[in-house]
Amino acid sequence: MSNTATQLIHSIPVDPLTGAIAVPIYQTSTFVQEAPGVNKGYDYARSGNPTRAALEEIIAKLENGSTGAAFGSGLAAIDAVIKLLKSGDEILAVDDIYGGAFRLFTHIYEKFGITVNYVDATKAENVFNAVTSKTKLIWIETPTNPTLKISDIQAIAKIAKASQCLLCVDNTFASPALQQPLSLGADIVIHSATKYLGGHSDLIAGLVVTKEKELGEKIKFIQNASGAILSPFDSWLVIRGIETLNLRVKQHSFNAQIVATFLETHPDVEKVYYPGLKSHPNHLTAAKQAKGFGGVVSFTLKNDTLKAGTAFVTATRYFKLAESLGGVKSLLCQPALMTHKSIPAEKRKAAGVADSLIRLSVGLEEADDLINDLKQAFLINNLNINPLTKSLADQAGI
Ligand SMILES: Cc1ncc(COP(=O)(O)O)c(C=O)c1O
Repeated sequence: MSNTATQLIHSIPVDPLTGAIAVPIYQTSTFVQEAPGVNKGYDYARSGNPTRAALEEIIAKLENGSTGAAFGSGLAAIDAVIKLLKSGDEILAVDDIYGGAFRLFTHIYEKFGITVNYVDATKAENVFNAVTSKTKLIWIETPTNPTLKISDIQAIAKIAKASQCLLCVDNTFASPALQQPLSLGADIVIHSATKYLGGHSDLIAGLVVTKEKELGEKIKFIQNASGAILSPFDSWLVIRGIETLNLRVKQHSFNAQIVATFLETHPDVEKVYYPGLKSHPNHLTAAKQAKGFGGVVSFTLKNDTLKAGTAFVTATRYFKLAESLGGVKSLLCQPALMTHKSIPAEKRKAAGVADSLIRLSVGLEEADDLINDLKQAFLINNLNINPLTKSLADQAGI
């Protein structure tokens, strides 16, 4: 199934009990039973809640999978997938991985005897060469965070099948509105639903979707056994976000293309990372496997220092300095000092996350206003105005 706006909107059920057009919030911890074990499908809300169940069914449909499971954060969703493994197993992960996933793998799971190897997955042959007999899980993000590298999901899925290991794709940046990894051969998709699925910077949530029911049952078991579930209210917020997902992601992508094109011609910019640009090394793979290129754009400055990056990210007005992405308001951040701080500098730089790299989450404002905001930030940088006293720039009418 590809996600047309109609399919997406009507994947959200009308309440069978009352006809409510919006999914009701079942704010309850337990469910009354007629006799021990005789109930209406729910007994205790960690094991199952109708609002969360509605979200889990919706995301399973949108990702073309069999089973969805909702967690209290994207990291809790990643954690649940890693719990499928056992001591002695290996994970082969994309090198430009989200910093939080790197921290979880290294500081929690290596302690339990799970080894993680990293590879530049933009070339499928690198993945093929790095798989060992102990590899039980291949972990990719595509696009990656924050250098927007693209991996060929279909090619890597074939390698995973041939090597009898699972392929999990972190689909946070693309969202199912643009890309459906399970349809391309992946076994598991995870989301930080905090981002595009929620879409309004007002919640933290994570989702796992499996292609096969049997694997889905294992994830559901882990969800109940470990207990990192999403609350009914946050489940409802994610459902509400999903209602407008297609519309929002289309506009995010449209604005991001304009911003990336502007940055590519700016004299202070060294490099722009956006899969929608023809200059992006994996542009064709991105165009083949996704319906659009998303709302995240990264770039580096010619003056590639932590200081110059910090000066820029504190000089914008519409782009707010904050971690996260995928919301209505534009955000920006300096991964070297924020999201990727937990990755050692050498490893971080080797994966392309330069000191001055700036990641933009392009929001839903007018594209012209965003361009003007970036222009004035470059200007402030060049004039060497202390960004913390931006009022000077205001007085100067810049
Ligand atoms: C690609 C990606 N995956 C997972 C996560 C973790 O999600 P959460 O912050 O919801 O735990 C993030 C968070 O930034 C992310 O960017």
